[in-house]
Amino acid sequence: MNSLTSPRRPHVSPLPDGLRAESFAPTLDAEGAADARSAAHLRTTMHGFYGPWLTDEEVSRHTETFIADAQRQVGVYLDAESEEPGADARRRVGFSADHPVATFVEFDETLDAGGRGAEGPLLDARLITGVTVDPGFRRRGILSHLMTSSLARAVEDGVPLAALTASEGGIYGRFGFGAAVREAELRVDLAHTAGTRLQLRGEPSGQVISADPTAMGEVVDEVWAQFHRRVRGSVDRPLNYLRRATARWSPRDVTSWDRRLRAAVHVRDDGSVGGYVTFRHAGWETEPSTLEIADLVAADATSHVELWRHLSQRDLVARAELDGASVEDVLTAAAVNPRSVQVREVRDVLWVRLLDVVRCLQAREWGGDGVFTLWLSDPLGIADGVYRVEVSAGVAAVEPVTEQEAGQETAGPVLSTDVETLGSLYLGDAAVVTMQRAGRLSVADGAAASGGAGDAEGALRELSAIVDLPTRPFCATHF
Ligand SMILES: CC(C)(COP(=O)(O)OP(=O)(O)OC[C@H]1O[C@@H](n2cnc3c(N)ncnc32)[C@H](O)[C@@H]1OP(=O)(O)O)[C@@H](O)C(=O)NCCC(=O)NCCS
Repeated sequence: MNSLTSPRRPHVSPLPDGLRAESFAPTLDAEGAADARSAAHLRTTMHGFYGPWLTDEEVSRHTETFIADAQRQVGVYLDAESEEPGADARRRVGFSADHPVATFVEFDETLDAGGRGAEGPLLDARLITGVTVDPGFRRRGILSHLMTSSLARAVEDGVPLAALTASEGGIYGRFGFGAAVREAELRVDLAHTAGTRLQLRGEPSGQVISADPTAMGEVVDEVWAQFHRRVRGSVDRPLNYLRRATARWSPRDVTSWDRRLRAAVHVRDDGSVGGYVTFRHAGWETEPSTLEIADLVAADATSHVELWRHLSQRDLVARAELDGASVEDVLTAAAVNPRSVQVREVRDVLWVRLLDVVRCLQAREWGGDGVFTLWLSDPLGIADGVYRVEVSAGVAAVEPVTEQEAGQETAGPVLSTDVETLGSLYLGDAAVVTMQRAGRLSVADGAAASGGAGDAEGALRELSAIVDLPTRPFCATHF
């Protein structure tokens, strides 16, 4: 390994014969209609996730936001003259040649890596989404081609990190992605008669007022901007979030207003807005009467708790459900009775793949100051190497070193791990000692390398104090 030249462009796995890949940006014509190739790409993607076949108008609405987010679509197409078995039948009953047999989408947003350095906590991230392969074309290496070529583009573009949300957990580790942020599904008891009804500690602060979601555009943007810079693990939101929060898009039909959406905002004592919540009533046929929280975003913990206090005091409802909450939502600790808040499920939400280790680690939050050496392996050869990390006043200086230099350095612990595991440590979701017990990393005492006695346990404690973070990360963005 030659750490001094990382990040390196990975080898791109070839596509099987008879297939070709095309990458393009979606467009709309003067009448607002999406071009045929990107419309077919979107419909195929939805099809892959068992979604409905979209109407032209739905395609246009989605495409407007894809253009605003500068998304690029990548499709894999069957050559027209393909003579593979079934080609004839495919021409008769299959989709038109515009339709890809595999889809892949990429765009850039920022990730809050939590760092306290001069560049702030936000790091550029290449987001990957819309990954589908037609069932008839699986396990031929199409995903491997799409993923390795996407990571190669990200390296060429100088993007330090790639991220995705995964519908299956077994696919992306091989490409160096580590599960980095988890989220919780909460069920909160609001029944006025129940002993477990949510009641919050402390005195109320400010007031919560009902809001017209269609008038909330500016508030949503302002609150989101503060949240995004406050919460480690947050990924900036694509435009569809604003459309949904302001009732422009209803959940099942993006061409119609969301007439059931309700909203409330928390107004602080100084008159500023500290957070918003949007929600719907599940319908009177649902027992017990339930509020489905669509989005709850706050600039600080006080507004977060006050929005929940407001929800807990509403009449006619006995339960609130929130799909994507922090695994450490302060709500449980703020509740008089912690059983008011039930965690129904915890699942991974964000996976990250470090490409430029120096930039990623320099943008990260650290638990404490100190020095250590990182020996990193990477099956795709992008980021492997040896790095010297020195954290001072919470900010890291990271430098690639040669193996010889690393051998001469004896100060601090020596961490050996792979890029997938580093992804899971990166935002503070996993602890060093957990990964060590799982056999996914080893920690040695640097002094042992030069013939000293070495204190492996001490080195593990020292490294944990530098790397581990006091809170778990959270990501309120699905993409
Ligand atoms: C998941 C999916 C994209 C894989 O595409 P594919 O072209 O068949 O994948 P490849 O042939 O390139 O396989 C690459 C590797 O991943 C493995 N793999 C593929 N799908 C996998 C899965 N669902 N679970 C575990 N491993 C998987 C393959 O065995 C192969 O391993 P190898 O390199 O050790 O041989 C495809 O099955 C699909 O479209 N699934 C439905 C939609 C979906 O789940 N998308 C993911 C959204 S996050």
